[in-house]
Amino acid sequence: MSVLVTGGAGFIGSHTVVQLLEKGEDIVILDNFSNSSPDVLDKIRQISGKDFGFYRADMRDAGKLDTIFTENKIEAVIHFAGLKAVGESVEKPLEYYDNNINGTLTVLEAMKKHGCEIMIFSSSATVYGNDNPVPFVEGMKTSATNPYGWTKVFIEHILEGVCASDKDFSAVLLRYFNPIGAHKSGLIGEKPNGIPNNLMPYIVKVANGEYDHLNVFGDDYDTVDGTGVRDYIHVVDLADGHLAALSYARKNRGVQTVNLGTGKGTSVLELVRAFEKASGKKVPYVIAPRRPGDIAECYADVSKAKEVLGWQAKYDIDDMCRDNARWALKL
Ligand code: NAD
Ligand code: UD1
Repeated sequence: MSVLVTGGAGFIGSHTVVQLLEKGEDIVILDNFSNSSPDVLDKIRQISGKDFGFYRADMRDAGKLDTIFTENKIEAVIHFAGLKAVGESVEKPLEYYDNNINGTLTVLEAMKKHGCEIMIFSSSATVYGNDNPVPFVEGMKTSATNPYGWTKVFIEHILEGVCASDKDFSAVLLRYFNPIGAHKSGLIGEKPNGIPNNLMPYIVKVANGEYDHLNVFGDDYDTVDGTGVRDYIHVVDLADGHLAALSYARKNRGVQTVNLGTGKGTSVLELVRAFEKASGKKVPYVIAPRRPGDIAECYADVSKAKEVLGWQAKYDIDDMCRDNARWALKL
């Protein structure tokens, strides 16, 4: 029996595959490399010393999905594949709805046809929207402010519907907070295309001299130092959360929604200082206007993850910065 990992060549997928292989799981990866590259597959083999099945395909290709499920005995799907750039989703909503939602429906149809009844889904803290108080708790009302966020909200509902209609189905909806860091080998990590929107990849490009400064989007929020606070989580901890979710889903039926975060908030300036300390590089910054759509603080209530999955994050912000710097700056 194998675990199908959609988007397994991506940032979070590749780290999760490494850990699954190290645990002795049989893995099949599906990826179209729309936001990753084939060399990641060799890096995964190098780190884990193990091999896996691979299909270069678009998850919306129903025929290809059928082939994958026919050629392999797929017990569970860990579903990372999706487009994830918020700004781009506002410019290209149809592309986002098609890729993320139709892609998920195609995967679910193939699962149904072949009797596969476990899905671990990559949701996001973005589903908490703009109106909930921190810390975010799983039972809070969900909403979104952009097409990317809506795809996550809708897919959560789709999986709830699937579980309601099929009592043997098990879905774990993992709401990630802000994943950063990289594997300790320095061989895999996040490689965003173009100008990064997210804070850590931008800090990296300032530290390596590609940009001369970071724009800090607002210093007048009601936070520890006025800058935005987020719950950064080491990608290796996040990967570990998927192993816990898989083990839970193998023993339980129905839908479970779980935050994966550390429960601790870190401000923009705190992250900048931690990165400078870890890398020995300067990260000059200027205070810029607030970014539209940003909230002051976003961090998780992590009690359910501990209770239900028996999982909690191990790494702190210094570990995240050290591993991120090692990967991105080749220190
Ligand atoms: P990523 O872009 O690095 O990985 C996604 C992978 O999916 C890529 O390798 C891409 O090539 C592949 N893919 C996309 N569309 C596909 C398709 N139609 N068919 C086949 N493969 C396809 O992103 P990531 O950071 O690893 O995120 C993984 C998942 O987690 C995404 O669903 C994302 O929305 C979600 N998520 C990410 C974050 C984050 O900050 N990184 C936060 C919350 C949720
Ligand atoms: C982003 C996504 C969100 C996704 C989350 C998880 C947006 C608008 N939202 O949110 O949907 O779920 O990532 O990965 O993209 N910052 C700067 N300067 C920069 C970049 C960021 O000051 O150049 C600040 C932001 O204002 C924020 C913090 O850094 O306070 C983190 O920003 P970012 O990394 O983009 O993550 P989120 O805003 O949490």
